[in-house]
Amino acid sequence: MLILRYDTDIYDFQGCARRGLGVSDLTRLHAEPVPVADWPRRTRELWWSSRLYATVTDNMQELYLRFIHNVLREHTGLPVSIQKRVCFRVQLPATCAHEPTYHRDSTWGQQPQTLNVWIPYVPVAGTNALWVETAPGRSDHRPIDLDYGEALIFAGGPMSHGAVTNTGDSTRVSGDLRYLPSVAMP
Ligand SMILES: [Fe+2]
Repeated sequence: MLILRYDTDIYDFQGCARRGLGVSDLTRLHAEPVPVADWPRRTRELWWSSRLYATVTDNMQELYLRFIHNVLREHTGLPVSIQKRVCFRVQLPATCAHEPTYHRDSTWGQQPQTLNVWIPYVPVAGTNALWVETAPGRSDHRPIDLDYGEALIFAGGPMSHGAVTNTGDSTRVSGDLRYLPSVAMP
């Protein structure tokens, strides 16, 4: 597992997401209006993430590719293959991001050498962070607190990870992309 600091002026993931959604503060997304006021929270999460797919998929994909080639390259070499499209996640307060809460991406066929690039577009801590076990099979999940400007790189195939109920008042918006590196991460 690796936590990397990067230059947010060069890799402006947050600005890209804010412009796409037309909001000034992603952490307050839960207070923004949606088409149907009484939608359940999970519906609102999916609606916001669908807005990201609709507005910034190409721009974000280009940012992630540059990030992998320019920043991660020195750690893992050039990518052998890269996921075709970045995945966006929105977790509003008082919800779980998805079910089941903890999982391994190997469940869906991800190879153990594949790395997950998990980038929060807002600061995350505690219950709105991603929770990851310290080694495959340990089941000792803990939150990976990150500032905006930090990226988490980990093997999501063998390592269990997921979200817990966000008991705070800050919405988490994040994006993740997987790639197969040419060099194993130390
Ligand atoms: Fe996953």
